[in-house]
Amino acid sequence: MTLRLTWLGHSTWAIDVDGMNMIVDPFLKPHNPSALHTVEDLNPQFILVTHGHGDHVADLVALATQSGAQVICNHEISLWLEKHGVNNVHPMNHGGAYSFPFGRVKMVTAIHSSVLPDGTYGGNPAGFLINFNDGHDVYLAGDTALTYDMKLIGEVGGVDLAILPIGDNYTMGPDDAIVAAQWVKAKHVLPTHYGTFPLIAVDADHFARRLQRATGIDCTVLAVGDEFTLD
Ligand code: NI
Ligand code: MN
Repeated sequence: MTLRLTWLGHSTWAIDVDGMNMIVDPFLKPHNPSALHTVEDLNPQFILVTHGHGDHVADLVALATQSGAQVICNHEISLWLEKHGVNNVHPMNHGGAYSFPFGRVKMVTAIHSSVLPDGTYGGNPAGFLINFNDGHDVYLAGDTALTYDMKLIGEVGGVDLAILPIGDNYTMGPDDAIVAAQWVKAKHVLPTHYGTFPLIAVDADHFARRLQRATGIDCTVLAVGDEFTLD
């Protein structure tokens, strides 16, 4: 079975598998200066949210309301969503895993912060480790610093694909992302959370070459709107 991942710009991803579509961290046009898609272009069954910052949730309420998608997020963000009329929520917390129709999702550590755009406490930021039903393991790091907890992911077998922030300033930069890719024992890396604003301008092609040279791990640099598939 094929897992198809489409970069929608910044940290927003569309993942398609087995006829199901999920959107990660919806930050769309016109809020996201790099995005090509608006809320109206998307119709997911699931939305995954790593934390409460505006560049991850700006279009969350609109997209969840329009699509009726189930939102998988931390407990605090689920309460905020319910206040905004979004009731199809699945709250989780760190270390917990749950089996969804597309696979098993575990909420894992991210070192970052997580206030919501209106100042509401957004709980702790997270990443997701997803064991898709088709057998592929994907690590969505979310916004995070390099952390030793990533070694735990490597110790339990590693992942087929790691989606890692490389933009620096607010998250890991390229140097730390190269270490993270090794610690989670990634077979392939897709860089994310870069290039959207001047503060996170990074040469992703240079990162990809350095990663490959230093570790042998493959890396694909996508343009916004491009797809990557795992067969
Ligand atoms: Ni953030
Ligand atoms: Mn961010």
